[in-house]
Amino acid sequence: MRALITGISGFVGSHLAEYMLSRKIEVAGTVRSGSPLQHIEHVQPDIRLYECDLTDAPAVEQTISAAQPDLIFHLAAQSFVPASWSAPMETIHNNVAGQIHLLEAIRKQGLACKVLIACSSEEYGQVEEHEVPIKETNPLRPLSPYAISKIAQNYLGYQYYRNYGIHTVCTRTFNHTGPRRGEQFVTSNFAKQIVEIERGWKPPVLFVGNLEAQRDFVDVRDVVRAYDLALDRCVPGEVYNVASGKGRTIREVLNTLLGLSAVSIEIQEDPARLRPSDVKALVGDYSKFHAVTGWQPEIPFEQTMKDLLNYWRVKLPQ
Ligand code: GDD
Repeated sequence: MRALITGISGFVGSHLAEYMLSRKIEVAGTVRSGSPLQHIEHVQPDIRLYECDLTDAPAVEQTISAAQPDLIFHLAAQSFVPASWSAPMETIHNNVAGQIHLLEAIRKQGLACKVLIACSSEEYGQVEEHEVPIKETNPLRPLSPYAISKIAQNYLGYQYYRNYGIHTVCTRTFNHTGPRRGEQFVTSNFAKQIVEIERGWKPPVLFVGNLEAQRDFVDVRDVVRAYDLALDRCVPGEVYNVASGKGRTIREVLNTLLGLSAVSIEIQEDPARLRPSDVKALVGDYSKFHAVTGWQPEIPFEQTMKDLLNYWRVKLPQ
């Protein structure tokens, strides 16, 4: 079996590469020219890299033709929600065109492969209190250009399955975190600030955005296990929530991280971190995915937070 991971050098891509290698599956991946490779340095001798920008259709066709994958994990995307307000067209173009090029290359080459499309809980957007925990059948009320791009990716997967029989499976993954999480995302941002304060590099003031939003966090190592199972067992053309089923406010997340550090820290709201609109509560019901795959999250949230803090303690120079 050969797996191709788009965006392999990213946060989820690097963990998925490790996981697939541990399952003795051949791993290849796409990276954009100039992408930092530090997350995959340790597995680089065991994987094949293709330099490919997914917005470049001929480059995607060449990559698919050369890689001949049985499994494609399509992770590459602009994934930071606030960046989609500052550059909406870039997010939509990057995420939608990239996926169309990928699916078109598969269709034109008649490649018999399975495709996992990493979609998002952001697609649900405005969720009413009585709708939590959210099921896949919930109406989609997107609140950001990023959410729109993920809905498009989701329905493109459905359309290519219905029109051409390409085996696509979409996962709506709720917030995920763990070691190597990009520092712009909330858990990693707070963890990095704490370590910088521990080191005495910055005054003991931690900047935050909206602490009242509620999110459902899954460890990235549980997520990559879910992606593998999704292609192995899920029904093509269908969409599945990957979630923990537990809601936590961002304030609770912050308190968990603060509880893992000995320094005393003042909290300060930074208006630049507030969003034009913030999805209030995203907590998922993953029973549909569990019924087909038996998957459930295994790594407790507190462990994930410990591992994330320790990641920054090791990564930042002494
Ligand atoms: N980034 C950030 N920084 N978020 C903050 C901060 C801060 O300083 N303070 C509070 N927040 C709040 C945000 O307003 C949001 O409610 C929540 O923390 C989570 O923010 P992010 O970590 O940036 O993630 P996200 O929920 O916007 O999106 C992530 O999860 C999606 C799945 O639901 C991303 O990983 C998306 O790519 C993914 O699809």
